[in-house]
Amino acid sequence: MLRTTQRRITLLRSHLYTNHRSYSTTQHSKMTAVTPTATFTLNNGHTIPAVGLGTWQSKPGEVGEAVLAAIDAGYTHIDGAYVYGNEKEIGEALKKAFTSGKIKRENLFYTSKLWNTFHQPSKVSEAITKTLSDLQLDYLDLYLIHWPVSFQPGSDLFPKDKDGKVITDPTDIVDTWKELEKLVDAGKVRSIGVSNADVATLKKVIDNARIKPVINQVELHPYLPQPALLEYAKKENVLLTAYSPLGSGKDHSPLKEQVIVDIAKKHGKDPGQILLSWAVQRGTVVIPKSVKAERIASNRKIEKLSEEEIAQINGIKERVRIVDPKEFWGLDLFKGDTADK
Ligand SMILES: NC(=O)c1ccc[n+]([C@@H]2O[C@H](COP(=O)([O-])OP(=O)(O)OC[C@H]3O[C@@H](n4cnc5c(N)ncnc54)[C@H](OP(=O)(O)O)[C@@H]3O)[C@@H](O)[C@H]2O)c1
Repeated sequence: MLRTTQRRITLLRSHLYTNHRSYSTTQHSKMTAVTPTATFTLNNGHTIPAVGLGTWQSKPGEVGEAVLAAIDAGYTHIDGAYVYGNEKEIGEALKKAFTSGKIKRENLFYTSKLWNTFHQPSKVSEAITKTLSDLQLDYLDLYLIHWPVSFQPGSDLFPKDKDGKVITDPTDIVDTWKELEKLVDAGKVRSIGVSNADVATLKKVIDNARIKPVINQVELHPYLPQPALLEYAKKENVLLTAYSPLGSGKDHSPLKEQVIVDIAKKHGKDPGQILLSWAVQRGTVVIPKSVKAERIASNRKIEKLSEEEIAQINGIKERVRIVDPKEFWGLDLFKGDTADK
């Protein structure tokens, strides 16, 4: 009964938002103005701060300080994952922040991700229990299926065969999804979503979902804007979160692109702030990673760009996928769809 009522409410909300949606690539009807406190409304009615702190490759001994610096700078959104191996330290930092009154739990949006070795339905509750315990939290705001591929379960998070190829497992993403839905029912997570899903995978989950995914977290920046995926997600009222929005520390990065550097000069901003402003203005959540307090603070200071500036950034022709499992797992998950121009 409760589930039926919840589903009706979700459907009603989804219907309401669908009817008020804008399809423009630079506007999003559920988005507030492009400012540091910008938020998006998810398809289940919860809100998510548009800018969050990324924590991948934030080392032990650094990540806790980074989280506290972010909260001091006004962030209310942290993006983490079990596989980043740093959630215990994040949990300690959050405990400090709650105890000292820097932020209340209900004002923080925390995302974590189910790792590939926990896709089998019987493994999902083990994964969320560990994650909540590491973070010292009672619930997550958002739990994502990190990759649309299942690995052989076990203590090795990257199981490989004798030829060095990752060992996959046949679990279907829909079976994993059904377990995530149960976590919502149990109050362990408020919202659920996917990550690294292409259009076909996102459609498969949506078509088989009792609770629709709220977010698909994917690589997005001017060198990989993925307009077809963005258009499809907007049509389905699923938000995209842009990961590696600053080029993930690579030398060949959109941070150095002349168009971005020129717009930054004009605005008296740095290139990072322009990339992040563009990301939010096109209707995507953005999660820049830094462990440097100064950059953490500046990355949040996004502002509205002109339509002409947005068009100039959209006109960048370079295409690069930075995070490609073809290179590190030998799995061609995106089937060359860097070509999604
Ligand atoms: N779902 C997934 O599969 C997935 C995959 C990748 C990433 N993510 C998430 O997305 C987050 C962000 O992506 P990312 O970590 O790959 O890369 P990113 O945020 O694009 O870039 C981070 C790199 O840029 C540097 N940096 C930060 N701010 C800067 C600025 N204003 N100017 C110049 N350089 C700056 C950082 O160095 P310092 O730390 O030294 O400042 C770091 O080297 C991750 O941390 C993670 O939470 C998710």
